[in-house]
Order: sequence, then C-alpha cells, then structure tokens
Amino acid sequence: MSKIVILTGAGISAESGLGTFRDEGGLWAQHRIEDVATPEGFARDPDLVHEFYNAQRAQSRAANPNAAHFALAKLQKEHRGDIVLVTQNVDRLHEAAGDQDVCHMHGFLDGALCSSCDTRWPAPLVMSTTQQCPSCNAQTTRPDIVWFGEMPYHMETIYHHLSEADLFVAIGKSGNVYPAAGFVQEAVLSGADTLELNFEASATISQFAQAEFGKASEFVPTWVETILK
Ligand code: OAD
Repeated sequence: MSKIVILTGAGISAESGLGTFRDEGGLWAQHRIEDVATPEGFARDPDLVHEFYNAQRAQSRAANPNAAHFALAKLQKEHRGDIVLVTQNVDRLHEAAGDQDVCHMHGFLDGALCSSCDTRWPAPLVMSTTQQCPSCNAQTTRPDIVWFGEMPYHMETIYHHLSEADLFVAIGKSGNVYPAAGFVQEAVLSGADTLELNFEASATISQFAQAEFGKASEFVPTWVETILK
C-alpha cells in the first residue's frame, strides 16, 4: 500500500472528550444547524455563532489527542509510502499528536477569516463581532469554518490524492455530509481498496470493500501496526 488516503471524522476525537455531531446527544441535537453553521445564521445572529464556536474552540484547546491520533502520526512518520491525512474535524488534535500537513477540509477552529478581504490569521480564544481584520480593519471577522452551503477547502488537492490512492480509509465519520461522503466512490473509481473503521456503520458503508467496528482508540492503533508490518 504505497499511497494511503485517510479521512477522519468526529468519531476519532470522541474519546478525547469532543462531542460528535449526530450521535445521541451530539452537537446537532443541542443546536440548530441553520442557526450556528450557515452563512445565513451568522448574518442573522453573529454573536450566537461566535458563542458556539468560542465554546468549541475552548474545548478543542483543552483536549488532548488519544491513541488513535497518535497512531496516525506514527503511521505518517514510519510508513515508507505516502500518507495523506484529510479531516472533517475542526479541532487541533491531529496536529497535537504530531501529524503534519493535515488537510482540514471544513476549516479550523484556530483560524479567523475576514469575510470582506479573505485574510486569515490565528483566531484568539474568544472571537467577537467587534474584532477588526488585521489587514483591512473591517469588523467582518468570522471563524475560519466551512459552513453548510459553502465549498469545503482543498477539494482539488483531495481529489488528486484520491485518484492516486492505493487504499482509502474512513475513520469515525457518519457519511452524511457531502462531498466527503463521496470520497469512497472516487477512490473506488480510481481502483483503490477501501476500508471503513467506525463505531457504527456509516450511511455509505455499502461502498466500502471492508469494515471494522469498535472504538477508534483501539482499532486505529491495531490497524496502523498491521500496515507498518
Ligand atoms: P458525525 O457526528 O456525523 O458522526 C460521528 C461518527 O463517529 C459516527 O459514525 C459514530 O458512529 C462514530 N463514533 C462515535 N464515537 C466513536 C469512537 N469512539 N470511535 C470511533 N467512531 C466513533 O460526525 P462527522 O461524520 O464527522 O461539518 O460529521 C461530518 C460533518 O458534519 C462535520 O465535519 C460537521 C458536521 O456538520 C460542518 O460543521 C460543516
């Protein structure tokens, strides 16, 4: 397996104490997507949206990577082929475990973005509507998160990697959100083998050649050791 493309979702961070979105009692059971994760919601009530992401950012900064994050960092370091790590997660746990060049397709809680001039800079712990863009001074700063209705980041690069993949692995994601849910299909079309590692079967499970179920902190280290052998 010389080139492996790995896609991680909220399930990989669950055992680090960060809530998933669609599991029972998850974030989308507590908040309406339309209110906190759409450009329209931000236009209606930016204070509410900042409050939501400020809480997520505080939790993300307080959390520690778990055995699954560390195992993927080890794989990236020790595998003789190419490892491409794409995540739907906006936390910093892959980086905290030592992973490099993580492709955050849904943005990053630690990033701020100016919606007037597209400048990006490191987000303070607490963002608010009164903060100014360091480049154009407009008070149009927002979390650098991809909201519903917006185009995820790095798509061209991701599809390029999928076209070259020998193996595509999806870890801890429910398969409900496109375009990420369609990556398995792209990988299959490119002739890659496919594997889902999850707690429960995702919505796209039927498209994977293989699947294993359990907790990420257990199955990811085991799978990584298999690959490294
Ligand atoms: P979901 O909350 O939709 O799914 C979480 C997945 O993690 C489910 O498949 C669970 O079975 C699995 N899971 C839970 N605990 C686990 C554990 N300990 N080990 C392994 N797996 C576990 O999260 P995502 O699929 O990542 O986007 O959600 C995708 C996108 O929807 C997010 O990036 C976010 C959200 O709306 C935006 O906000 C744009």
